[in-house]
Amino acid sequence: MLAPVNAPNPLGLLAELTHRCPLGCPYCSNPLELDKRDGELDAANWARVFREAAALGVLQVHLSGGEPGARRDLVEITKAARDAGLYSNLITSAVGITPATLAKLSEAGLDHVQISIQDSEQESADHIAGYKGASARKRALAVEVVKLRLPLTINMVVHRANIARVSDMVDLALSLGAGRVEIAHVQYYGWALKNRAALMPTREQVETAVAEVEALRERHHGRIVIDAVVPDYYARFPKPCVGGWGRRSINVTPAGRVLPCHAAEVIPGLEFWNVREHSLQDIWQNSPAFQAFRGTDWMQEPCRACPQREKDFGGCRCQAFLITGDARAADPVCHLSPHHARIQELANVRVDEPYAYRG
Ligand code: SF4
Ligand code: FES
Repeated sequence: MLAPVNAPNPLGLLAELTHRCPLGCPYCSNPLELDKRDGELDAANWARVFREAAALGVLQVHLSGGEPGARRDLVEITKAARDAGLYSNLITSAVGITPATLAKLSEAGLDHVQISIQDSEQESADHIAGYKGASARKRALAVEVVKLRLPLTINMVVHRANIARVSDMVDLALSLGAGRVEIAHVQYYGWALKNRAALMPTREQVETAVAEVEALRERHHGRIVIDAVVPDYYARFPKPCVGGWGRRSINVTPAGRVLPCHAAEVIPGLEFWNVREHSLQDIWQNSPAFQAFRGTDWMQEPCRACPQREKDFGGCRCQAFLITGDARAADPVCHLSPHHARIQELANVRVDEPYAYRG
């Protein structure tokens, strides 16, 4: 049994208000087993969670889902975030948020909006989302966001079907008035793992896209901020997933379970505490799941003696478990991992099959 590691202050809270969503994206990061509507935390509980988060040092809350617009009390929840003194960011598919709701959210103190787009080509975008007309509704809501002078970020999740259009997607974000784009390659957990072979790009596609993003950054310097994350399966080093386990962020599921990251429930044997039974501070500092991989004492070789260990914290625990069967192993994306060859093999499995859309 390892000694408990002192917890640093968290900075961000991901509030998964609901797993309900009208879209069915095949790379959705929600778990395969979704929380039910009747088990969702109510607005009063969320307000308490936000106050407790602020007291812990959290600065920013991401109101996410599923689709947060599926909550009838979203305005009340947003106001509670403001009242707690948190900077609030709405992460939305845009389907389910009307212009009238958006105006109310802005009045309630919403600080920032993130809208995901699936592709620059509308037909492909709707196909990926599994929802006809989604793309048009996203564009329309983006216009409303800008009209209300709310800062807008466009998220684009990149995979084999849209990776050739990164540049067009950035142009679309610019034309919509976004101040920032976030280009994220699919991360293979949840539904994306199920669809991995249908989503996986080739190494050539990834290399072209990475070079393109560099050129776009230069071309649009001063007009739009472009944040991009290199895709895991083609990297040599892993990312410090969620900034390191139990270091920066807290994830609360619709039913109130508190996780160190959105995918943590894939790791068997972890004990997650619930905000209905414990304060957020108690959970952050003492819950077994947060303590499990906090710091570096839990590491085994090659991480244990590696000079990178305080930088990447051994990468993603969820990915380590999903690929190697051992959550304490180095993330196999790391070229020093004895399982790295497996990642390369999996990156070569590409099958043009229909997506399994999330339920
Ligand atoms: Fe990171 Fe572990 Fe790889 Fe070192 S061996 S670079 S700590 S994943
Ligand atoms: Fe869980 Fe990376 S998604 S640690």
